[in-house]
Amino acid sequence: MSFKEDISFRVVSSELAKVSADALVVAVGKGADGPVILDAPLSTAALASLKASMPALGVTGAADQVVRLPGLPETGAKILVLAGIGAVKNGAASDEALRRTAGAAIRQLAGLKHVLFAIPTTAVGQVAALAEGAALGAYQYASLHSNTKDKRDPVSKVTIHSTLAKDPELAAALERAAVVAKAVNATRTLVNEPPSKLYPATFAEAARDLAKGLPVKVTILDEKRLLKDGYGGIMGVGQGSSRPPRMVKLEYKSDRAVADLALVGKGITFDSGGISIKPGAGMVTMKCDMAGAAAVLNTVLAVADLGLPVNVTGWLCIAENMPSGTAIRPSDVLTMFGGKTVEVLNTDAEGRLVMADGLVAASQEFPDVIIDVATLTGAQVVALGHRTAGVMGDEGVSAALKAAADRAGELVWPMPLPEELRPSLESPVADMANIGERMGGMMTAAVFLQEFVGKGKDGETIPWAHLDIAGPAFNEASPYGYTPKQGTGMAVRTLVAYVEDVVARSA
Ligand code: BES
Ligand code: MN
Ligand code: ZN
Repeated sequence: MSFKEDISFRVVSSELAKVSADALVVAVGKGADGPVILDAPLSTAALASLKASMPALGVTGAADQVVRLPGLPETGAKILVLAGIGAVKNGAASDEALRRTAGAAIRQLAGLKHVLFAIPTTAVGQVAALAEGAALGAYQYASLHSNTKDKRDPVSKVTIHSTLAKDPELAAALERAAVVAKAVNATRTLVNEPPSKLYPATFAEAARDLAKGLPVKVTILDEKRLLKDGYGGIMGVGQGSSRPPRMVKLEYKSDRAVADLALVGKGITFDSGGISIKPGAGMVTMKCDMAGAAAVLNTVLAVADLGLPVNVTGWLCIAENMPSGTAIRPSDVLTMFGGKTVEVLNTDAEGRLVMADGLVAASQEFPDVIIDVATLTGAQVVALGHRTAGVMGDEGVSAALKAAADRAGELVWPMPLPEELRPSLESPVADMANIGERMGGMMTAAVFLQEFVGKGKDGETIPWAHLDIAGPAFNEASPYGYTPKQGTGMAVRTLVAYVEDVVARSA
């Protein structure tokens, strides 16, 4: 597995003529009366000529549009690029519009080495947004194509032209952008790996490798240990595979910690459905079913890398869901970690089984809050579509996650946890069945998970929220903005922003 990050950032306020780059990117907004170039340090003559030629060039200012023109003699760049930023309100672009524009440009300019951005920025956060978007947009999976003749290498050098070049807060903001982008990109790579390469044992080893050099303790529970300790959910789901399951525990501790957070991730390295096997079309993307665990892993690493004053424990619930003579059967009963029994009526509802063990394990350490992340249900995609994740659980935690997602530039929407769904999960032979009401199945799954959230030291149920990322974890459509095809790295940015918010609130 290759997780190399090869992109460097520099912010300058010098004249554009002094920066020799392959491309100079300026942003074009979609105004009421046609495209408008966002304040760019170009000569009046150049701006006037661009303005006059934009309609004929087909430049609209629409997001994702990237139009290349010959370089202006007054600049030091070989080509000029007009990058669409979409509708801009009162001349001010949102951080997310800046991320997407930088990402779309860098992605489409692959093959060039050095890109210079001259997009107006009035706050350090906007410069960081450009850097983050560029680092996310430069992502390429080291794919297994045998013919690499037409491969265009990602842009490796980014210069951002900004009047804020000397701002004392810039270095930290750029460092944060780099750490977060690295975490998102590593999540994408783990998701993109074929399941023949990334299976429970290799996923656990990858976690250990990625944590090297960071103050994160990695403990891997193998199948013998999981069996001995009674992790019946993870063991049950994994028992049909020739590749035994793992639980990975990641611990980051700060001596200035203001809170104890637990993150639990679904790590099904391939979800065939098991004996309740999926139809072929529904199975092809199921290497993405470990995206929650990959996001949790990389969030813990990013939080450690940034040295945030919190304690975070990550729990990766890793198994492969396969049909075989040793697989669990519909109507088998599993004894989960902590002792609750579950009748497995559908072996394709496996995510909630591994997550149950993870939630119980996390609860036993009495964290202040538990957040779980899982590609849990197809119903999530039906309800919220391909790009928006659902968040369910404690209202406070859900609202905080929604706010963090808004700031980070990820789409998250709160959904309820209706009490009336609970009876549908009753079983005649065990404490619960693993499937219940089909309509609103995203919420039924969350109601199942809720049963495994334990009580804190104060005797109250630990505040908990669940993110269902089944849709947004994997992009089957074309790339857009900074989002590539396949693994997207969904949830990492929201979780890092959430942790930062917890720290900010306690200050
Ligand atoms: N991993 C799937 C959910 C999923 C679907 C993720 C589409 C990403 C894209 C999950 O394990 C699953 O199979 N869920 C079942 C549950 C059902 C049997 C109650 C589903 O959604 O069909
Ligand atoms: Mn499944
Ligand atoms: Zn699954």
